[in-house]
Amino acid sequence: MEVQIVTTPTTPARITTADIRDMKQRGDKIVMMTAYDYPTARLVDEAGVDMILVGDTLGMVVLGYDSTLPVTMEDMIHHTKAVVRGTQHAMVVGDMPFMSYQTGWQDAMKNAARFLQETNCGAVKLEGGVRSAETVQRLVEAGIPVVGHIGLTPQSVNQVGGWKVQGKTPAAAVQLMHDAQALEQAGAFAIVLELVPAPLAALLTERLSIPTIGIGAGVGCDGQVQVFHDLLGMYDKFVPKHAGRYANIGEQIRDAVARYTADVRAGSFPTPKHSFKMDPAALAELSPRQETNIQRRHALGLDA
Ligand code: KIV
Repeated sequence: MEVQIVTTPTTPARITTADIRDMKQRGDKIVMMTAYDYPTARLVDEAGVDMILVGDTLGMVVLGYDSTLPVTMEDMIHHTKAVVRGTQHAMVVGDMPFMSYQTGWQDAMKNAARFLQETNCGAVKLEGGVRSAETVQRLVEAGIPVVGHIGLTPQSVNQVGGWKVQGKTPAAAVQLMHDAQALEQAGAFAIVLELVPAPLAALLTERLSIPTIGIGAGVGCDGQVQVFHDLLGMYDKFVPKHAGRYANIGEQIRDAVARYTADVRAGSFPTPKHSFKMDPAALAELSPRQETNIQRRHALGLDA
């Protein structure tokens, strides 16, 4: 019997936690970026980032809240599903929203499992070092990959008194070290460092065996994460100092929509190019007399 070998076109495999760990070993920088919907996830994935974070920043940059606190599990699941559908290569990380894990590891387990089962994302992220370590350990033991997040933790913004750089005093720096080590020991496979002085972030990066991914934490981290809307100039309500600005898409959108508005009002859009033709003979039947005949025939069921 002849055996037929069927080959299918190969798409690059999705990035795994092992790939991320290997990147630190090799000294390859890890690129992470947020995305919140299908079309932007496709673009970000096609651009070649390693990890896509469906961050709870979506509360601010997509849903228009003043902080991340109102974001719910339903919001996160809805957006994470869309992002996973839009990606083939990057690892997608779902961000656990406020009060989805702080109420105990059992709640954390249920909610983290929802991310993996309902969205098919590859990992979850949660905030807190020592205080979240037990929860991280339980999730990892259950087979759920976890990214930690220390430094400025936006879900505690009311407690820390605003969007401030963390770890500036020796005592605060030592606490951050303990937080990072607790996450590493608990089994987190990477840690986001947000708003941490660059020299301290570099020291943490050197001392940890797992990768650090910085945002406002300097170039010494193993990787960087940026918020999509900051990087592309689509959110000007609050632009953090650490935001990289690589395009001004917000201005381009405003300009394009303003030109469309002007064209519609001037009657110059749509043009024949955007319109559809009709057989002139069919059109001729729509003279008022012909139209009455058509209606009569229709009423008598003669056209059926
Ligand atoms: O929610 C988010 O987008 C984040 C990043 C700022 C790291 O946590």
